Amino acid sequence: MNDITIGIIGTGAIARTHAGILQRNDAVKLGSVYDVRKDSGERFAADFGMQTLSSAEDVIADSDAVYVTVPNKFHVEMTLKVLSQGKHVFCEKPFALNLTDARMIVDAVEKKGVVYQLGFSRRLAPVYKKMKELITSGELKPKSFNIKMNRGELQVPPWTSDSKITGGFLFESTLHLIDMTRYLFGEVKEVTAVGSKSVYPCVDDFSMIFEMENGIHGVFSSSAHTTWIFPFERVEIYGDHASIVSDEMEAVSYCMDLNTPVEKLNFSTLPVDERWGFTEENEIFVDRLLGRDSGENDLVATHLDGYKNVEIMEDIYEKVGLGR
Ligand SMILES: NC(=O)c1ccc[n+]([C@@H]2O[C@H](COP(=O)([O-])OP(=O)(O)OC[C@H]3O[C@@H](n4cnc5c(N)ncnc54)[C@H](O)[C@@H]3O)[C@@H](O)[C@H]2O)c1
Repeated sequence: MNDITIGIIGTGAIARTHAGILQRNDAVKLGSVYDVRKDSGERFAADFGMQTLSSAEDVIADSDAVYVTVPNKFHVEMTLKVLSQGKHVFCEKPFALNLTDARMIVDAVEKKGVVYQLGFSRRLAPVYKKMKELITSGELKPKSFNIKMNRGELQVPPWTSDSKITGGFLFESTLHLIDMTRYLFGEVKEVTAVGSKSVYPCVDDFSMIFEMENGIHGVFSSSAHTTWIFPFERVEIYGDHASIVSDEMEAVSYCMDLNTPVEKLNFSTLPVDERWGFTEENEIFVDRLLGRDSGENDLVATHLDGYKNVEIMEDIYEKVGLGR
């Protein structure tokens, strides 16, 4: 069928994940790529049967939809270029690094009326989908939560420790589960936060308390220098003598009262692209471009989610008071 031509700007690690999934989708033609590093673009194009073009603008003109998979600080510039040509956008997280830029993207998406999707793949990871399902169905009514989102290092790729490129550690890693708090518990009312520049030149340790608008509250910690000791990512949700607990994106356990056994779903044998939600987020993006809905389109993050997440992160940095 190959109805949709997709272009890619930035041909690094995550672009390879997306292209590997998109090339199996009959509705997609992988078109052209642009990367500032010509060798990277050429290798990528050869691997995925695409062509390299000499500018982002050329890729956008050649495409129906464009993946923005460059380092964080270039997301806004590239997204606005794509939107200025009225093309659909899939942008990797983060949405933007400040609220002024975030507002510009919201306005441009709404003005052009295109499909915009933000790469919060964890929303589609089976572990987190199960958590959301147990909450949405009313099987567990959350009262409070305990979240940790750590990172082993800020060394790979090397730009991850440079706040001028990432926007700060919150915008690089922690934001995945900041988005998750809204996905699972609704909108944030207030965050209390302390942080420190412990190991890297950026704020790399955060201790936070989240109060949600519906009265649910929880603690959230995030450190950037823990080694990759397991589990570096964990969500625990507490209800009325009930709990749901995740182990990374490998497994989710839940216990719904004092007298029933713990149920555990283990997803560790799924391919990583499915386990981490990448496969489904790409399938939904293509469905949205085609105007199809398998019933799960509303699980993905939109430009409005992007804006709200930036608002929360700016507020946290302001409260910590040490810059980024
Ligand atoms: N959703 C997720 O789980 C997830 C996972 C990894 C990365 N990411 C995000 O994806 C983005 C890319 O990360 P990565 O790990 O693929 O990085 P990477 O360093 O492997 O790749 C980035 C690529 O962009 C190219 N590039 C840099 N500046 C450019 C520019 N101005 N124009 C065109 N090309 C440019 C680089 O040469 C490189 O090939 C980041 O924003 C990161 O936060 C998201």
